Amino acid sequence: MEKQTIVSGIRASGSLHVGNYLGALKQFVELQNQGHHCYFFIADLHGLTTPFEPKKLSKDTLDVAATYLAAGIDPKKSVFFLQNHILEHATLAWIFNCLLPLSELERMTQYKDKAKQHKENINAGLLTYPALMAADILMYKPTAVPVGEDQVQHVELARVVARKFNHKFGKTFPEPHTFLRKPLRIMSLSDPAKKMSKTGDEALLLDDEPKEISRKLKKAVTASESGKASAGVENLFLLLEHFGKQEQIAYFRDAQRNNSLKFSELKETLAKEVAGYFAEFRAQKKALLEQPEYLAEILGEGARKARTVAQSTLQEIKHRIGLL
Ligand code: TRP
Repeated sequence: MEKQTIVSGIRASGSLHVGNYLGALKQFVELQNQGHHCYFFIADLHGLTTPFEPKKLSKDTLDVAATYLAAGIDPKKSVFFLQNHILEHATLAWIFNCLLPLSELERMTQYKDKAKQHKENINAGLLTYPALMAADILMYKPTAVPVGEDQVQHVELARVVARKFNHKFGKTFPEPHTFLRKPLRIMSLSDPAKKMSKTGDEALLLDDEPKEISRKLKKAVTASESGKASAGVENLFLLLEHFGKQEQIAYFRDAQRNNSLKFSELKETLAKEVAGYFAEFRAQKKALLEQPEYLAEILGEGARKARTVAQSTLQEIKHRIGLL
């Protein structure tokens, strides 16, 4: 693949589970290690659009930063920073706000969903969220933007903004491609009919200690409904495919075919593999969180790199639109 310039924002919302890891983080690390030019940032300004608590916001931000670094984001290879550190994002978002028709913003699915969810706080930021996201993206003139399904509409809108701007003020932005992350169906351990989310014992969190992983897997639902192959068991196999070894999968699939599959054995093996897979991650993350000054230094260095590009893009844009 030709070298791409890649931009993506990360929501800071506390602990991640193995589904989040496989669906996003792992792919970021792979893109980085393939040598693409990557900008990854924590979208803390977007975090203000839904109700938040200041202490928790700072804590979650540091936690997510440590998570991404511990999982393999290398600040020497990727530009890794906090959105709020680059003031240019907010300025460009304002410029895009003045370019985007209200009607385009009002028909965004996420806005409609969140407005319904947070009836007591339908703030203007919730509506103009995609203008800030378009600014995040176009600032770095990327060729590709990896996002989950729920963000595709916003990347589309960023393309519309790019087109509009280019048409009105002259060619400035390339239209970035959406780079859809594979929708992975990692299901809840306690209710395999729904996707894994972060609540209770249904999720394996990246931070879980081996004991906790074993405990949750032991409780994982394996019962089949009305003779159908059990979704819970298939989910365990799916996890083993990602975190286990080929011969383990072959061994348990064989047992399944011979009707001699022991769920407890499958769960024990899986627990061991998941715990081992994230052992290094847990140690790294702990070490990072114990050195907040070092974390701040990494984020500061990332911001310096991002700022150089952002300042130059904003300069070009101001010139195009006649801002002195
Ligand atoms: N809105 C994205 C999400 O909720 C996060 C995000 C903010 C983002 N700015 C971005 C993603 C720019 C890609 C590009 O996940």
